[in-house]
Amino acid sequence: MSEKPWAGRFSLPTDKFVEEFNASIGFDKRLYKFDIKGSMAHARMLARQSIITEDEARIIISGLEKVLEEIESGRFTFSEDDEDIHMAVEKRLTEIVGPVGGKLHTARSRNDQVALDVRMYVIEEAETAKAYILNLQTVLVEKAINNLGVIMPGFTHLQTGQPILYSHYLMAYFQMFKRDFLRINDMVMRMNYSPLGAAAMAGTTFPIDRTFTASELGFYGPTENSVDSVSDRDFTIEFLSALSICMMHLSRFSEELILFSNPDFGFINLSDDYCTGSSIMPQKKNPDIPELIRGKTGRVYGNLMAMLTIMKGLPLAYNKDMQEDKEPLFDSVDTVLASLKIFAPMITKITVNEDKMREAAGRGYSTATDLADYLVRKGLPFRQAHHAVGKTVAYAIEMDKKLEELSLEEMRRFSSIIDEDVFKYISLDASVNSRNSYGGTSAESVMTQIKLAQGFLNENL
Ligand code: ARG
Repeated sequence: MSEKPWAGRFSLPTDKFVEEFNASIGFDKRLYKFDIKGSMAHARMLARQSIITEDEARIIISGLEKVLEEIESGRFTFSEDDEDIHMAVEKRLTEIVGPVGGKLHTARSRNDQVALDVRMYVIEEAETAKAYILNLQTVLVEKAINNLGVIMPGFTHLQTGQPILYSHYLMAYFQMFKRDFLRINDMVMRMNYSPLGAAAMAGTTFPIDRTFTASELGFYGPTENSVDSVSDRDFTIEFLSALSICMMHLSRFSEELILFSNPDFGFINLSDDYCTGSSIMPQKKNPDIPELIRGKTGRVYGNLMAMLTIMKGLPLAYNKDMQEDKEPLFDSVDTVLASLKIFAPMITKITVNEDKMREAAGRGYSTATDLADYLVRKGLPFRQAHHAVGKTVAYAIEMDKKLEELSLEEMRRFSSIIDEDVFKYISLDASVNSRNSYGGTSAESVMTQIKLAQGFLNENL
C-alpha cells in the first residue's frame, strides 16, 4: 500500500476495508479525460500567473499527456489505494515527471476538481443525448411523411376516440422529444460555468485566473461563489431529471409498440431483428426491446430519486456523500443513450398494417363527434346534438351496425334535421380531413407540423 498524499497528520495507515469502501476509482476512472484536460488548463494558468514556471508547466503537461496515453492504450493500472481518479492521475504524473508533479495541485482541491470533471462529463453526454434525440426525430418525420394518409383510431382512456392520421400520432412523439432536446439544452446553458479555482470551498490565496481556465475548457465563464461551486450538484439532478422525462416518453412509446404489435391489434409489425422468440411457444414473437426500455425507465427514475435523496440534507459545502452522485449518473446516461440509440432504427423498420388500422378506426363509432358537429352546424346546440348522437350510437350498437351503415330514416329517428349530405361527414376520411384546425389531424395540418419540425431539425442538426 502506498502512502496517501494526505497522510501527514495520520498515525495509522488506512484500514484495508476502509480503503476499499472509501474508493471511487472503480467508477470515477471514467472521468479520466476530463480530469486530465482540467489539469492541463490549470497548469497552463498557474504558469501564466507565475505561480509555477513555464518550464514546470511544460513538464507537467507533457507528463499528463503521457498519463492520458497510458490510460487510453490500456497500459495504466488503476489501483484501489489511489482512492479516486484525481489521485491516480496525480500519482502517475509524479512517477513520470518527478516531484514537480506535486506542484499541479497548487491553488486547487479535489473538491473543485471533481465538480469540474462531472460538469464536463455532463456537458459532453448532454451533446450526445441531443444528437441521438435529433436522430430519432428525423426518423419520426420520415415515417410521418411516408405514411401520410394512413388512418388509425385515436384513443382516450384507451377507448376509441376519433380517427387520426398515423402521421399525426408519430408527430406527437416528435413534440415530446423536441421538449427533451430543449430541456437538455437549457440545462447546459445553466451549468456551463467552471468551478475550477473554488479550491476546497473558500477560494485561494494564489493570484489565479479563473476566467482563463474557464475559457480554456469551453465554459462561458467561472462560477460566482466558491462555496456553491463545490457543493452544487443541481446540474446532475437536472440532467437525471431531463433523462427521466425523456425515458418516460420512450416508455410510453414502447407501451404502444407492444400493444399495437399484439396480433389482436395488429396495427404494426416490429422487425424480426428487433424481436426475440419464446423457448417453449414456437408461434411467439416477443417485443423485448420496447419491454426492456419500459422496464429500464424504473431504474432511470430510481437514479433521480437516489440523487435527490443524497443531496437533501447536506450541509455546505463538499461532503463525501457527493461521491455517490456518479454511479446513478453514469447508469442513467448509459441507459437512456442506449435506449435512444436502439429506438431510431427500431422505428425505421416498423411496418404498418394500413387496413387493420383503418378497420379499427372504423369500429367504435369514432366519427360520432362528426355527426354531432354536423347537427351543430345545422343549428342544434352542442349538448342536444351530443345527446341525439348518443342515442343513435346506442341504437347502432343494438343493430350491430356502424354509424355510416344506418339508413337516413334510421338516423332521422334521433334527429329530424339530418339530411342525405350527412354521409359526406361521417366517413373516416372526411372526419380526419375536416379537423383542419391548427395542430389538428387533417393532412394539411399535419403537413404544417412536418414543415415546422423540419425547420427545427435544420436549425439544430
Ligand atoms: N472522490 C471524490 C468524489 O467523488 C473526490 C472529491 C474528494 N474530496 C475530498 N475532500 N475527499 O466526490
